[in-house]
Amino acid sequence: MRAPRGTQDILPGTSEKWQYVEQQLTEICRRYNYKEIRTPIFEHTELFQRGVGDSTDIVQKEMYTFEDRGGRSVTLRPEGTASTVRSFVQNKLFGLPNQPTKLFYIGPMFRYERPQQGRLRQFVQFGIEALGSNDPAVDAEVMALAINSYQELGLRSLSLVLNSLGDQESREAHKNALVKHFSPHREELCSDCQVRLDQNPLRVLDCKKDKDHPSMETAPAILDYLNEKSQSYFEKVKGHLDRMGIDYVIDANLVRGLDYYNHTAFEIMSKAEGFGAITTLSGGGRYNGLVEDVGGPETSGIGFAMSIERLLMALEAEGVELPLESALDCYVVALGDKAEDESVRLTYQLRKAGVQVEKDYLQRKPKGQFKSADRMNAKYVVVLGDREMENNAVSIKDMTTGDQKELPLEEVINYLQERLAGGKQ
Ligand code: HAM
Repeated sequence: MRAPRGTQDILPGTSEKWQYVEQQLTEICRRYNYKEIRTPIFEHTELFQRGVGDSTDIVQKEMYTFEDRGGRSVTLRPEGTASTVRSFVQNKLFGLPNQPTKLFYIGPMFRYERPQQGRLRQFVQFGIEALGSNDPAVDAEVMALAINSYQELGLRSLSLVLNSLGDQESREAHKNALVKHFSPHREELCSDCQVRLDQNPLRVLDCKKDKDHPSMETAPAILDYLNEKSQSYFEKVKGHLDRMGIDYVIDANLVRGLDYYNHTAFEIMSKAEGFGAITTLSGGGRYNGLVEDVGGPETSGIGFAMSIERLLMALEAEGVELPLESALDCYVVALGDKAEDESVRLTYQLRKAGVQVEKDYLQRKPKGQFKSADRMNAKYVVVLGDREMENNAVSIKDMTTGDQKELPLEEVINYLQERLAGGKQ
């Protein structure tokens, strides 16, 4: 039996990296004061149809949708924003005193895409959402958190790509211009784009099949259609990024693959050689209007999400070594039946005292036990033998220095606790 296509097992050796980056991201959220939200893995299908948008590839082609035994249509979440907004409305988080509501999540998402490097059918997104403020400083904060996360983990070859999709009025003007521009080429475009032209012309710019059609290059850019209000909002966002010293490039063709965006839209790309064909590390933007679409009060929102898989790919491509602890604190070697019984007790007591301990469970000979300790990179080896048992003592070896000494049994715990705490300072 094999795991389904587009899924992966994360095994020991790699899972430590996951734990490390998830801890770092959680710590960054603490500093920026984003609190964790955990929502269900599946939701009513309608949430994503309304939230992500009926005309998107995600909703049309990529959702894992099925009927449950009660005949309801449910969908494995393809992203985190719609669920977060649904929960914000359902739990009336807008009524709490501390606004904006600033949330983060880390969890698996599901999209039926063609698997390739960096594109999976189950992947883990870390994302944040700030709901309830229309201040351009929040847009800058979200982008700052995004880029800082990568930088603090050690990535250097990054590019923040920024665009504005404007407000409703600007988007309408741009939409009309797109229809006018593409209509003469309607027959040359793929069948999907012909539908998109009627449903949501902006999606034509995002088409993977027609991306090399000559009409793409000359298509009207949204930035030329921003009304004064949208223009001024965009200037303020850029001004804040400038003040923070965060570099960005403007790309008027950045449209994003989800329908809910307006004003700020951004992606962070990896420029690292060998990163692969997909260069987008993360993406996000503002989505004023989404809370109302999901049945809540008028509330603005902005957020972004990254997959941990692409983050780890980028770390590898840039040769970043994460500071992971691979050594074991202590290995208990037992020689003889009496010592074996005592080792069970001592191992338990040491673990309760906070020391990471392993012992032999395969009746290995002394040499084999020392070999195991070596393979696990043990910092200390505690030896319980006949002589030690008689003296109510243990031999303890510091594997870094090679020093060895005998200690009364009741002092082992304190000794190791002190030594190990000292080593960690
Ligand atoms: P998205 O651009 O669809 O936006 O996805 C965000 C990130 O999720 C991507 O940049 C990528 O890192 C990761 N990702 C997406 N699909 C896959 C896949 N098949 N395999 C691996 N990684 C993938 C959203 O999902 C929005 N909810 C982001 C957002 C939050 N906007 C506002 N708030």
